[in-house]
Amino acid sequence: MNQKTKIAVLVSGGGTNLQALIDAQSRGEIPDGEIRLVVGSRDGIYALERAEQAGIEHVVVHKDEPKLLSILEAHDIELIILAGYLTILSENFTKKYANRIINIHPSLIPSFCGKGMYGLKPHEAALAYGVKVTGATVHLVNEIPDGGRILLQKAVEIKEGDTAEILQKRVMEQAEWKLLPKAAEMMSLEIRNQHLKA
Ligand code: GRF
Repeated sequence: MNQKTKIAVLVSGGGTNLQALIDAQSRGEIPDGEIRLVVGSRDGIYALERAEQAGIEHVVVHKDEPKLLSILEAHDIELIILAGYLTILSENFTKKYANRIINIHPSLIPSFCGKGMYGLKPHEAALAYGVKVTGATVHLVNEIPDGGRILLQKAVEIKEGDTAEILQKRVMEQAEWKLLPKAAEMMSLEIRNQHLKA
């Protein structure tokens, strides 16, 4: 019997996407994977508290890729999920984990994405442009920020009078928190199947 895909979730903030993954896991919606580790990019972020409450091992690694790599290797991590992780990973890192890193971005890529487009910025840009529909994208991570193959997307309507904060919340509720657990299971199953074939 081969094991579940071992997942690490990398976070930098409040961790609502991490929470969506934890909740989906406890509902049995990620049967082929298991969150083994949460890595925070700085101390004191609420995402780490969520990991603690869920009984998941968690560590803080400040901009130190060699350290990050050795921790991931020590835990035998097979799938890395960037859930609001604000540190850009080097090409060396993304090549090492090619097709094994996914990210959630709060827009419909290729709109409102790339370097510097984080937090409220994609929503501010969508409102400034005047698009009527935005959404979220889960994609594979390569050396180009927000440039890897798209796995899942979900559209979200923009409403009259929306502020960036209101839109951010709607995109999270209607798209991000649904897409990320779905993609986690998709990738976990794929990685598990690759082991079976090997
Ligand atoms: C989300 O909007 C995500 O799409 C982006 O950063 C935000 C993280 O929020 N990459 P949280 O920490 O998961 O609450």
